[in-house]
Amino acid sequence: MSRLVVVSNRVAMPDNAGSASVGGLTMALAAALQQYRGVWFGWSGDTTPTFTGEAHVRETGGVTIATIDLEAQDVQEYYNGYANTVLWPLFHYRIDLTEYERAFGEGYARVNSRFAETLQSLVRPDDMIWVHDYHLIPLAQELRQRGLKNRIGFFLHIPWPACQLLTTLPQHQELVEALFAFDLLGFQTQDWLNAFNGYVTDELDGKIHGDGYVSAFGRTVRVGAFPIGIDADNFAQIVQSPAAAKSYDQAAATNVYRDLIMGVDRIDYSKGLEERFAAYDQFLQTHPEFRERVTYLQIAQTSRSEVETYQDIRTRLDGVAGRINAAYGTLDWTPLRYVNRAYGRDFLAGVYRAAKIGLVTPLRDGMNLVAKEYVAAQNPRNPGVLVLSRFAGAARQMKAALIVNPYSREDVADAIKRGLTMPQPERRQRWEALMTGIETDDVSTWRDSFVAALKACRPQAHPVSAPTIATAGANETVIRSPAGRRGVEAQARRCDAGHHRNFVGVANIPAGADRADDRPIFAADKDAAGRRRHVAAAHREQGGVEEGLGGRPLGELAAAEPHAEGALGLGGGDVGSE
Ligand code: ADP
Ligand code: F6P
Repeated sequence: MSRLVVVSNRVAMPDNAGSASVGGLTMALAAALQQYRGVWFGWSGDTTPTFTGEAHVRETGGVTIATIDLEAQDVQEYYNGYANTVLWPLFHYRIDLTEYERAFGEGYARVNSRFAETLQSLVRPDDMIWVHDYHLIPLAQELRQRGLKNRIGFFLHIPWPACQLLTTLPQHQELVEALFAFDLLGFQTQDWLNAFNGYVTDELDGKIHGDGYVSAFGRTVRVGAFPIGIDADNFAQIVQSPAAAKSYDQAAATNVYRDLIMGVDRIDYSKGLEERFAAYDQFLQTHPEFRERVTYLQIAQTSRSEVETYQDIRTRLDGVAGRINAAYGTLDWTPLRYVNRAYGRDFLAGVYRAAKIGLVTPLRDGMNLVAKEYVAAQNPRNPGVLVLSRFAGAARQMKAALIVNPYSREDVADAIKRGLTMPQPERRQRWEALMTGIETDDVSTWRDSFVAALKACRPQAHPVSAPTIATAGANETVIRSPAGRRGVEAQARRCDAGHHRNFVGVANIPAGADRADDRPIFAADKDAAGRRRHVAAAHREQGGVEEGLGGRPLGELAAAEPHAEGALGLGGGDVGSE
């Protein structure tokens, strides 16, 4: 029977104790997989001195969980580095915080190759594979190069950046080319999909077909917007649980004379916490009549704490929170309660319900599930008000919220006031509209529509065949790629990223060179200092490949080019390891 194999960097079945790995992705996948016979594969979160490639497999709640440990250097370069110091800030429009380091790209390529290596042995031919998020963009390409023909879909949980931002990324084309090895690409909203399509047309000269397919790099993939939702039924049960009732009572009792304003976020600069604190300050300053009549509770779990930008934001938030409390606090009133820990889902549900305002004001967010949880937790007869950033993907769907510009403290302060004073009929009307959307577009709709689209994908017209990598003599490697010049270049860079820093570039096979076919080749040899030198060659263009090959004539190389007998497994690791 065909299974759904879900792959994400982070793997965690959330327990109710409040886990360290909170985040929209795990919440949604745990909910999505529990109703599916599935396998969930990813990083264990642990390190090992030497990568073994072995998966730890266990069963939880009907789901098979398979995880691998990574080396400390992998975690540093791939997770802290390329994923969270390059792609995360860039995709959240913060190029000022993006730090490109070549080692990060190498680690990213290496870990994706390692994921593929282990995953390959777990996948059956009729499985569907669903890859999640920006950590794993090259995974389908790695799997295809190992010969996997399964349907493979990709879902991006975060925004897709505008074309002009993305082009600031060195090797942005290789990154996007890797996406074309999937069958289906899913985005949270039409906005992010439009941005992706914009890159394809403007930067790649690709084609957007009317039927949901997009072509570039000689391949065609299906694309779509699949807004993620929460498990609305399950959340409704949680809200009624004794634990939720208890936390509701606690929150209500502590704030019996005061209205509660609430935010729940990972500590992340994309969440706009600093700006939110400033807006609350503005609110207290411009509306002194509300002082001592409101409390703002910000639950903010520490996140990615090894990354410097995350350490910085945490330090700044501590400072701003302290200043607000010092400026406005009294003997029996703490204006801002700022708590850095994770809570169980039922606890959170109760506190959401007690809050008169849900403040969700990210500067940029793929979707934002907290906005949906806040609404789902409300008392239908006396609901609170959601204040929502226009830059959260959720704002596309949740139009009945008070939509704000999080960069404007006045705007957010006005919305707080408006929410606190909103008459009950208007609150109910807005809540009903929001709740209908949450129930209709819940996590099952998200999962089922993505899986249905993946099943219905036309088989790839241009499957990504593996480049052949073979040794040719003691010191040489030859790579041929049917994916054209770009494929050769991309592979050359992967080899380079894996082991070398001496990629020379692409040379051209002289026109008229005597080759049996017109596929490009890539070759490497050692230079006088004993370093391996890489040269990629593309057929039928002017230029001199011989020079790049250290003076060896092309004919000699072609003659040395092995076929069946020498082909190695793919991956940077196989090329030139010395
Ligand atoms: P992101 O995926 O960027 O973290 P989302 O708002 O989409 O943002 O998802 C966050 C998820 O993590 C929500 O389900 C939320 O309830 C949960 N979460 C966030 N902070 C905490 C916390 N301190 N304790 C428990 N759960 C949390
Ligand atoms: O939802 C976006 C996301 O980056 C997920 O991929 C991730 O699991 C979550 O936020 C939390 O981040 P992290 O896994 O880095 O703790």
